[in-house]
Amino acid sequence: MSSSSLPLSYGEAGYCDARYVEEGGASYGWYQRYAALRPFVRRLVPPASRLLMIGCGSVLMSEDMVADGYMEIINIDISLVLIEMMRKKYFDLPQLQYMQMDVRDMSKFSEESFDCAIVKGVSFFMLQWLSNKYLDY
Ligand SMILES: C[S@@+](CC[C@H](N)C(=O)[O-])C[C@H]1O[C@@H](n2cnc3c(N)ncnc32)[C@H](O)[C@@H]1O
Repeated sequence: MSSSSLPLSYGEAGYCDARYVEEGGASYGWYQRYAALRPFVRRLVPPASRLLMIGCGSVLMSEDMVADGYMEIINIDISLVLIEMMRKKYFDLPQLQYMQMDVRDMSKFSEESFDCAIVKGVSFFMLQWLSNKYLDY
């Protein structure tokens, strides 16, 4: 039996969907906001880049990046509930696309689809998933 205090479903689509239904689509950004990350992002990522935002959540970072001149950001998240909310919210921002996708299977994208991928606040989900799958302590 796992000693983890987190539910085994943590990091699975159902768990994430339930969280977003509860939050009702309110914007929330984990850790740093774009304003704090901007100096690094602007230095490393030209605005014309094709960007992949992995585990986008309801974060404002993609919107802020468009306001800062970025032109193509594909946002993926495992939660379909979240993706539908974001599609409605940003229907008039063609620079942002939202797709429901599990980062563990991105085979829908061909090689070299993106110039850059941003992953913010998702590694904890992945570590939990790996420990659920492989560790029994
Ligand atoms: C802690 S939130 C971070 C959200 C956002 N990146 C931020 O910085 O605020 C983690 C996000 O990763 C998503 N997620 C969890 N597991 C995922 C997976 N296997 N594939 C894609 N997204 C996943 C969750 O639905 C959630 O929106």
